[in-house]
Amino acid sequence: MASSPPLPRVCVTGGGGYIASWLVKLLLSRGYAVNATVRDPRDPKNACLEQLDGARENLRVFKADMLDYGAVTPALAGCEGVFHIATPVPEQEMVDPEASVHLSPGPACQ
Ligand SMILES: NC(=O)c1ccc[n+]([C@@H]2O[C@H](COP(=O)([O-])OP(=O)(O)OC[C@H]3O[C@@H](n4cnc5c(N)ncnc54)[C@H](OP(=O)(O)O)[C@@H]3O)[C@@H](O)[C@H]2O)c1
Repeated sequence: MASSPPLPRVCVTGGGGYIASWLVKLLLSRGYAVNATVRDPRDPKNACLEQLDGARENLRVFKADMLDYGAVTPALAGCEGVFHIATPVPEQEMVDPEASVHLSPGPACQ
């Protein structure tokens, strides 16, 4: 009997995040193999990934910081697509865009 072809493989960055972990769950349920990157595989917040249906067979978790390209490369190997969900937050002070809109009326308001 012929063996079934390998599942299409995709990468999801920041796999332990809110949106990304739901995406990993969805992809596994739709018949994809998933390479998920997380910054710290031992962080308890990432443990839920291993509990997903199909994770044991079709999920690989990679340790990778998005700011280190060399660390991300192994997670991309063999993938047909990448869902880049990881969201590095800048260390410098963030500007509240709503506050700046209210404080700086445009030409139409003058
Ligand atoms: N949640 C929403 O309702 C919503 C709606 C629209 C759009 N979005 C967008 O969707 C994206 C994800 O949102 P989210 O709510 O899922 O955020 P989240 O739960 O905070 O997830 C962000 C992920 O990015 C990872 N990350 C941060 N810096 C990283 C780095 N340097 N290298 C690797 N990974 C890094 C975090 O990993 P660690 O766990 O290691 O910190 C975390 O897993 C954001 O761009 C957000 O603006 C979200």
